[in-house]
Amino acid sequence: MRELKVLDKTFVPFLSQETIQEKIKEVAASINKEYQGKKPLFVAILNGSFMFAADLFKEITIDAEICFIKLASYKGTQSTGHVITAIGLDSNITDRHLIVVEDIIDTGNTLHSFLPQLLNQQPASLKIATLLHKPEATVHPLTIDYCCISIPNKFVVGYGLDYDGFGRNSKEIFQLKS
Ligand code: IMP
Ligand code: MG
Repeated sequence: MRELKVLDKTFVPFLSQETIQEKIKEVAASINKEYQGKKPLFVAILNGSFMFAADLFKEITIDAEICFIKLASYKGTQSTGHVITAIGLDSNITDRHLIVVEDIIDTGNTLHSFLPQLLNQQPASLKIATLLHKPEATVHPLTIDYCCISIPNKFVVGYGLDYDGFGRNSKEIFQLKS
């Protein structure tokens, strides 16, 4: 079997380019239908979602905007755990229909901490689009409105997803060899 070496780990093919693109087209078709006339604003979370966001957005045929943000996670000044802030959210999101674009939802911690900050600014609506979801790992109940592919609780790389910064550059997705 073909193998991909990323740093000290070995990965094997998991999701083909065709499968990924087919699922993205299905999700885009739903969004095109449901957001007709609503001029949604896609909010893509960097770094991992850059390939997915680009391919998804290319399939969007209705009027829509996209912006890219980066989430910075740091310990609060008190010992009150993690604070997540968004860098680069320069669009006015009040009264906008938001579609948050993620590469993968694992525990759900990231979105659980971050979504309230978007909701604070009173968007007209907020939905989540993710390329991958690991239902077995998700500890926060999140409504995932558009999920391309549900996967088992295994570490994956490729198509934007990284292992320690590397492995993002491939058209297919690999999983850790067991
Ligand atoms: P969560 O907050 O646990 O849902 O995790 C979200 C982030 O963890 C994702 O946006 C990824 O950056 C990273 N992540 C989780 N699982 C994987 C994986 O299998 N491969 C690469 N990155 C992952
Ligand atoms: Mg990410």
